[in-house]
Amino acid sequence: MKKLYYLFIIAFLLVQCKSQTTQEIKKTGLIADKAMVVSARQEASTIGVSILKKGGNAFDAMIATDLALVVAYPFAGNIGGGGFTVYRTKDGKIGSFDYREKAPLAATRDMYLDENGDVIPNKSILGAMAVGVPGTVAGLFMIHQKFGTLPFAELIQPAIDLARNGVVVSKKQARSMNHYRKLFKEANKRTIFLDKEWEEGDTVKYFKLAETFERIRDNGRDEFYKGKTADILVDYVQNLGGIITKEDLEKYEAIERDPIVFNYKNARIISMAPPASGGICIAQILKSIEPYNIGNFEHNSAEYIQLLTEAERRSYADRAYFLGDPDFNDIPISNLISSEYNNSRMSNFSWKKATNSEDVSHGNIFVVESDQTTHYSIIDQFGNAIAVTNTLNGAFGSKVFVEEGGFFLNNEMDDLSAKPGEPNMFGLIGAEANAIEPEKRMLSSMTPTIVEQNGKLKMVLGSPGGSTIITSVLQNILNVIEYDMGMQESVSKTRFHHQWLPDDIKFEPNFDTIHFSELRKKGYKIDQSNSRILGKVDAILVLPNGKLEGGADPRGDDRAVGF
Ligand code: DON
Repeated sequence: MKKLYYLFIIAFLLVQCKSQTTQEIKKTGLIADKAMVVSARQEASTIGVSILKKGGNAFDAMIATDLALVVAYPFAGNIGGGGFTVYRTKDGKIGSFDYREKAPLAATRDMYLDENGDVIPNKSILGAMAVGVPGTVAGLFMIHQKFGTLPFAELIQPAIDLARNGVVVSKKQARSMNHYRKLFKEANKRTIFLDKEWEEGDTVKYFKLAETFERIRDNGRDEFYKGKTADILVDYVQNLGGIITKEDLEKYEAIERDPIVFNYKNARIISMAPPASGGICIAQILKSIEPYNIGNFEHNSAEYIQLLTEAERRSYADRAYFLGDPDFNDIPISNLISSEYNNSRMSNFSWKKATNSEDVSHGNIFVVESDQTTHYSIIDQFGNAIAVTNTLNGAFGSKVFVEEGGFFLNNEMDDLSAKPGEPNMFGLIGAEANAIEPEKRMLSSMTPTIVEQNGKLKMVLGSPGGSTIITSVLQNILNVIEYDMGMQESVSKTRFHHQWLPDDIKFEPNFDTIHFSELRKKGYKIDQSNSRILGKVDAILVLPNGKLEGGADPRGDDRAVGF
């Protein structure tokens, strides 16, 4: 009887425990009446919102948030990297900005190979040779010129003040700054990050960065590409053996591009076009699963995991073959995202057995002539929405820290294909379309995305996470559209990922293992050996009553601020 009593108590505690986690997951995010910024750091979200409160629009807030992230989140926030912005104005106009890095003019196809044609480990990842020509500053000025309403000087000032007053280091930041010390040392002669072992609560001040920002404030865009900052950058990189020249910087231009637009059921999805692969891949995956009514399956059930995995496998195989810089390649976009094409790609899918990735190649399309990041989402009080994903690629990029300028440089060259068939740092394989060529923009997985439903703005979202960006964004679209989740509930849900090669499904550490044996029986390989978090989604949902719900990913220090 006593035994039964104890069993009862244990069962009761387990149920309590389970329902507590469910309650935690269901926690509603910040609700705001009119406007919101959700980003990787409280300081940046607060600065963005302060601009909105002054009467600035989402584009003004974007510029201020972006520059604040350079200071508060040097892990990925940058002026030494690049990114993509997708927008939808209050009257429904859509568009996007590409300020992705480019390969330097002196780049060559085999620059990361040794005399035997083998990839030289780390050469495209660590140090000055890994750096692509940065695009962020050009992007911010282009966005300001087109949509800004407040003077640039007013938008950059909060970041200047933050850099001078300093940023308090969070526990996660202290851990990552200490973790990369050895690599900072390898990539630089010295940096301020080597001064001490960092602890939570320390304050870092960026005086040199404040000076760089002041020069940009006073001299505009050309300061970074032609002025003193350009000289400082080029000297620093070349002293470390890099190949970026003044000409590379002078020639850099941001580009406006048509976004990828498609329907999924009654939703219209607007996402980033190449050189970002996110829009096309999300379109392909959603088109592939559309006929199966995935919402009828339990969320994260075996069937749900199986269907998404098979669609992801096929889409990532196409990504590796067809996608690259559109200014260097003809990309058959409309074919790739059509229902017919994706249905035919799924025709050999069987519920009984996993498809083998070795048996999946890219699809056949006749090409008519004619590849550490941060994401933030903003909706302003006027109804404008923007999704922005920016990156240095790896954590702190190439680890090269331009001492005099006070900023990190990217290692985006690793997103180009160093050798066909050879995986990059995210295990992604590239082909001819993404081979190294001077001035080519490297293929990206970034997926800043806006969703409309019934002609109205529904959701703004995106994520960091290399190759797992696409599948993180995808799962959040499904959480909201198919499972009616709130924004915070959605971003907090555990995630999984498949990218064709390697042929295994990656699950987050706390993903429920209940369906694993069924999936294994069908031939799915499950990788939990190196289990890690997948993506870090910052998103905003427009609620039926017109209010906004923020989803700030609990995997980081991310915060929603609004009013
Ligand atoms: O553009 C890309 O796809 C990569 N450079 C993104 C890197 C990234 O998301 C790293 N973040 N965790």
